[in-house]
Amino acid sequence: MAGFQSLPGFRDFYPEDFSRRQHIFSVWRQAASAFGFQEYDAPVLEPLELYQAKSGDEIEAQLFSFKDKGGREVSLRPEMTPSVCRMVGAKAGALKRPIKWFSVAEYYRYERAQKGRLRAFHQLNADIFGEPSPEAEIELIALLIQCLAGFGLTRDDFLIRLSDRDLWFFYLEALGFNEAQARALLVAIDRHEKMGDDAFKGYAEGHGALPAGSKDKILAFLKIKSLDQLEAALATFKSGKLAARLADWRKVLAGVSAMGLADFIAVDLAVVRGLAYYTGFVFEAYDRRGDLRALAGGGRYNDLVKKLGGPDLPAVGFAMGDVTTGLLLAQRGLTPNFISAPDIYAILGGKVERLVALADIHALRAAGFRVEYPFKDLAFGKQFKAAAESGAKLALIYGSEELTKGVVKIRDMAGRAQREVPRDQVVALVRDLLSGH
Ligand code: HAM
Repeated sequence: MAGFQSLPGFRDFYPEDFSRRQHIFSVWRQAASAFGFQEYDAPVLEPLELYQAKSGDEIEAQLFSFKDKGGREVSLRPEMTPSVCRMVGAKAGALKRPIKWFSVAEYYRYERAQKGRLRAFHQLNADIFGEPSPEAEIELIALLIQCLAGFGLTRDDFLIRLSDRDLWFFYLEALGFNEAQARALLVAIDRHEKMGDDAFKGYAEGHGALPAGSKDKILAFLKIKSLDQLEAALATFKSGKLAARLADWRKVLAGVSAMGLADFIAVDLAVVRGLAYYTGFVFEAYDRRGDLRALAGGGRYNDLVKKLGGPDLPAVGFAMGDVTTGLLLAQRGLTPNFISAPDIYAILGGKVERLVALADIHALRAAGFRVEYPFKDLAFGKQFKAAAESGAKLALIYGSEELTKGVVKIRDMAGRAQREVPRDQVVALVRDLLSGH
């Protein structure tokens, strides 16, 4: 088999990698269920059309798409949002509101290889449907924070940058942009951080996205870093819509502060998100040192359920990736050192004792304990060494002497205390001993 390798951007999960991945998933699942979200899943292969003109040009260019044997144009899912909109849309009338759903699943994008970006990766997706008020944003931002804080990460490790596509459109319209120019500019702004100011101006002009005289105003707007600055920048515009929008901003920030999470959040209008469907608040989570790609991203997308054939249903949500999260945990020494230790290691005298022990071993496993024993007949000394190396909490010793007496010896591997128990009481005693561990 020499010479075969996994495809670029796809990972093998050896047991140690797999347990790290399970740790990430279990922290996510724990946080999502504490917030009352219900878990779901969707197909990994979808009609290509689901993503065309919905996710945005960047994702569309990265699709793993092909024609199936029935001639259908299909694609591996690059993200969950269109699928979950279809699912919720199809049953919206029957679902109790607010609809709070989450999933942990794998996605596929034909990305250029770079640190933190792969071609197959996992995401936690958490979305709320049917709630137009900023209460939904507060809930999701708090959940996003908990999904990272659950690993032991703190406000010194990561932050959420909050922005608003609604306000951008409002501002750009006021500067004389038409809708197409505004959309093109937001795509350029999404790349601004990678390009720097000068390259950004050149790019935006080249794409017909900068009407004369607007350059410096836009650069100033995208550097806004607080609600006060935002209100000052918009003070000259009098509009009911704008006032309502700023009231929503205050609600979100007040809600997040009331939860004690103010230090995790920064106003940052440079975030606009690369996906096409966002309509209002958008946010992204980053590591504080800023040397990793985004940990998570999301926002409000009030039109997508309807665009995909469902009812008019407001929605907001985010996705967090396992790749950057795993890199951050490793950087901060927060990757647990997993040894997958058994509860019990059985030490067997010889062939006769082995057969007797197998009955107990199976009974203990059926009762839910993790039990290991040597496949080969080995000297006691070697077996004790193997028991110690396995990290087992208890050793069960089946020697010929014990069997004649109808007992088993149980040794606490940490304390070394040892006692004999009648064989018919082994399961009950093990349960007692391990309940304290
Ligand atoms: P996204 O920003 O494309 O949003 O992805 C969210 C997160 O998934 C990223 O911040 C990153 O951690 C991870 N991710 C994305 N692409 C890759 C990749 N190639 N390799 C490794 N990790 C990656 C969405 O997917 C939206 N559908 C999120 C959403 C849910 N919006 C509303 N609900």
